Amino acid sequence: ALISMRQMLDHAAEYGYGIPAFNVNNLEQMRAIMEAADATDSPVIVQASAGARKYAGAPFLRHLILAAVEEFPHIPVVMHQDHGTSPAVCQRSIQLGFSSVMMDGSLGEDGKTPMDYDYNVDVTRRAVEMAHACGVSVEGELGCLGSLETGMAGEEDGIGAEGKLDIEQMLTDPEEAAEFVKATHVDALAIAIGTSHGAYKFTKPPTGDTLSIQRIKEIHARIPDTHLVMHGSSSVPQEWLEVINQYGGQIPETYGVPVEEIIEGIKHGVRKVNIDTDLRLASTGAVRRFMAQNPSEFDPRKFLKETVTAMRDLCIARYEAFGTAGNA
Ligand code: G3H
Ligand code: 13P
Ligand code: NA
Ligand code: ZN
Repeated sequence: ALISMRQMLDHAAEYGYGIPAFNVNNLEQMRAIMEAADATDSPVIVQASAGARKYAGAPFLRHLILAAVEEFPHIPVVMHQDHGTSPAVCQRSIQLGFSSVMMDGSLGEDGKTPMDYDYNVDVTRRAVEMAHACGVSVEGELGCLGSLETGMAGEEDGIGAEGKLDIEQMLTDPEEAAEFVKATHVDALAIAIGTSHGAYKFTKPPTGDTLSIQRIKEIHARIPDTHLVMHGSSSVPQEWLEVINQYGGQIPETYGVPVEEIIEGIKHGVRKVNIDTDLRLASTGAVRRFMAQNPSEFDPRKFLKETVTAMRDLCIARYEAFGTAGNA
């Protein structure tokens, strides 16, 4: 059944687990996520970005998620809009039947320009008023996502600030977070604690201090009733990078957020963990390997099925690691 994010994250908070929020763009991703949730008895958050709507078309995306709900009626599903850049974008998603929206007022409508606090409060408060009247949850964002190692926002053509950020922008201020939640009434808050979008988060193997766990603790202590969200939470599996590069890919050395650090965040109030890049890497590795090993094959179902298996296994691993499993 389709439920609101508030309801799902309240349960996660009560029982102390986290929920991966996977981005969906196509049938194979949707099926992989649902099969993984079914296998592990996990609740599901699927999210659609502006890029996903552009790729699949809003009606296809909507019906893909509704089809998942129909085929797996015993699994609770949140249909979430990722990185809405204006109240109008959120309004359209609510009209489409989304049960949760993100109003990302930390950046301007271009998705790239860092905005000031007052702008963020204004657009987020307006989105919350509209959404709550429809029983829809809202995720806000305060701070600018950026890698504490490189100072970069990460994504080049998607959502993210351009140029180098300073450390103050990259760590959400706990007092400001408390003020922001009070002024906007968001259900969940995306915080900047050292993560960035995309595959290029860190240039060196992580040494266990990728995230500012200390900052997560401080924010959680100030706003214990607000569910914290971690964007840019892909772990960039080295195994998949090796497969990709073994079969013709050229992805330079790069590292993501270790799963163990995410688990630490979940112990301190993180409830929603956004993952997109990991599914992209698994898909690409699976296709490259299949194509290389089966050069005469031309039925797309053959290689797309490989992507389902690869993504499903990754989803199962995250559901188990984050404690989501067993909570559907
Ligand atoms: O927040 C970024 C997500 O990975 C979505 O990426 O805009 O390319 O769909 P996208
Ligand atoms: P990744 O690029 O780390 O997968 O993050 C995805 C995300 O935050 C979507 O909003
Ligand atoms: Na989101
Ligand atoms: Zn994001």
